[in-house]
Amino acid sequence: MLQISFSTQVESTAGALAILVPEGDAHPTVFQNFDAATQGALSRAAKAEGFKGKGGTSCVVLAPSDSFERIVLVGIGKAGDVDAWVAEKAGGLAASLLARAPKAAVAVGDLSGALAAHVALGAVLGAYHFGLYQTKKEDDKKHQLAELSVLGAHVGAAEELWPSLQAVARGVVLTRDLVSEPANVLNPVEFAERATTLRAHGLEVEVLDVAAMTELGFGALLGVAQGSANEPRTVVMRWNGGKEGDAPVAFIGKGVTFDSGGISIKPAAGMEDMKWDMAGAATVTGLMASLALRKAPVNAVGVVGLVENMVSGTAQRPGDVVRSASGQTIEVLNTDAEGRLVLADVLWYARDRFAPRLMVDLATLTGAIIVGLGHEYAGLFSNDDDLAVGLADAGAFTGEKLWRMPLGKEYDALLKSDIADMQNISGGRAGGSITAAQFLKRFVGETPWAHLDIAGVAWASKAKNGQPKGATGFGVRLLDRFVRNGFEQG
Ligand code: BES
Ligand code: MN
Ligand code: ZN
Repeated sequence: MLQISFSTQVESTAGALAILVPEGDAHPTVFQNFDAATQGALSRAAKAEGFKGKGGTSCVVLAPSDSFERIVLVGIGKAGDVDAWVAEKAGGLAASLLARAPKAAVAVGDLSGALAAHVALGAVLGAYHFGLYQTKKEDDKKHQLAELSVLGAHVGAAEELWPSLQAVARGVVLTRDLVSEPANVLNPVEFAERATTLRAHGLEVEVLDVAAMTELGFGALLGVAQGSANEPRTVVMRWNGGKEGDAPVAFIGKGVTFDSGGISIKPAAGMEDMKWDMAGAATVTGLMASLALRKAPVNAVGVVGLVENMVSGTAQRPGDVVRSASGQTIEVLNTDAEGRLVLADVLWYARDRFAPRLMVDLATLTGAIIVGLGHEYAGLFSNDDDLAVGLADAGAFTGEKLWRMPLGKEYDALLKSDIADMQNISGGRAGGSITAAQFLKRFVGETPWAHLDIAGVAWASKAKNGQPKGATGFGVRLLDRFVRNGFEQG
């Protein structure tokens, strides 16, 4: 992970520099100083490119002087409108443009210390690259940035906030690493194994194997798993940073390490995307790591259901009936609607065992949510208005945006089965994300609950908003903020 330091001066060893530039004619002092030092190279380049400091724009000035390999100007829009999210986007864009230099600096001018720390967070995430399997030297060259110095006026305040934001950055990186791993490496057993390494940060981690889940009656989850040669696992992660005895907040994740669709098999085109069908579980894991790393004063529990949905002679058939841990029976009309089957058991289990004050689940649950909301917003479903508002606010703050979708008994009625307590799909395609959420709702009882359908936002097919393409880690920053805003003591 990119190493960050804060200082008031550019180190002479930095070979590359980014300068954050607000919109308008008055250029920041850093800009003026470097412009003078480079005989006007910066202002000439800005003029030639029509760079005016608009948010999301940039201008690269190559070799402006002997000491700099490049100076990049990064627009941050109107100075008064810069918030944490704008700062992170700018930091991310800066880091991606500086990535070829091993050491670089970013000048944030007179942004507050807090915003400077958010620039650093954005930079760490913008410099992220999953390079584990690239063995050719040319590939590494594009991602050399290892040390970044953040140059600004308010070093003390930035340094004070940074450790807690760095904890969040480490959580997001963990999530992205898990999501990026191919399914031949990251099967349920390997995922569980990696979760146990978080004990080093003070998390209690328990792994439930097939025998334990059989004992608990996880018939819905086990039905999905039965076609795979890789055994399923459920992992429980606990962070006890709050008052002893206080009910925890609970986060539940869908962890389908590969979703072939099962016997209701998916088309070949794009099936490789289904390695990231465990993004919900990865987000819960990254979030729990963040809470532990920043020693959050809260009791939290994360529960992830890990399975591989495969096709084989032992695979579950369309029409099979399974008994969930709640006792409710389910007719599995489509084996590709497997995420809800996994969540049915882990949601019930989380509620039954921990009596949490609230539950939030994350899942790449439906293609339909992508049709509805595209790749900008995740779908938010909830049985509790305060919880929904708290989550949406945290989403607006962090730029991980949520859009609330409806629930209602008319949708629920579509799940009625002829031979079991419910079926796992409705008769048609209409409202597919809603009927999926409605299915989950049957396993949460009266607990305040929210479901985030992250199918459209867990993976980016191109770089955007200072974020590299690939796994986004969506939800870690959002839920960390949600916990900070409403559930921490003192
Ligand atoms: N994992 C998929 C949903 C998905 C699709 C995630 C595209 C990310 C990108 C889920 O298990 C699934 O297959 N859902 C089905 C449900 C249907 C059978 C009712 C879907 O969306 O088609
Ligand atoms: Mn599926
Ligand atoms: Zn799936």
